[in-house]
Amino acid sequence: MPIVKWTSDYVLGIEEIDGHHRHLFDLLNKTYDMFVAGELKCDISNVLDELIDYATYHFAAEEMSMAKNCYPNYTQHCALHKKLSQRINEIQKDYISGRTELSLEILSFLKNWISDHTLVQDADYGNYIKQKG
Ligand SMILES: [Fe+2]
Repeated sequence: MPIVKWTSDYVLGIEEIDGHHRHLFDLLNKTYDMFVAGELKCDISNVLDELIDYATYHFAAEEMSMAKNCYPNYTQHCALHKKLSQRINEIQKDYISGRTELSLEILSFLKNWISDHTLVQDADYGNYIKQKG
């Protein structure tokens, strides 16, 4: 069972970014499935790495698109991306070092962040692009 289910509510109407979001959802679901199945820490950690790498790539692409289109909330949006990037890097570091175990709470945090951010802040960018025409 996925922790987050992709629905049309998440679609911004910007093909490249929508594709990225779908892939992020898939990676989060993969991490969650492996966690629930009790798979090996090194394997889960590899998928978490993939999620972090992909999120970094995606944030940069999204920010580039926003800058190119003179999106007025660009700075605030970048700050949100930066904050999450720092948090997921911390989660991964703590997990690898054994300081904290991966938990449903951490996975729920990631799920809520990705879901809310897509539905609110990214949707705002999607609307901006639609209005811009
Ligand atoms: Fe975003």
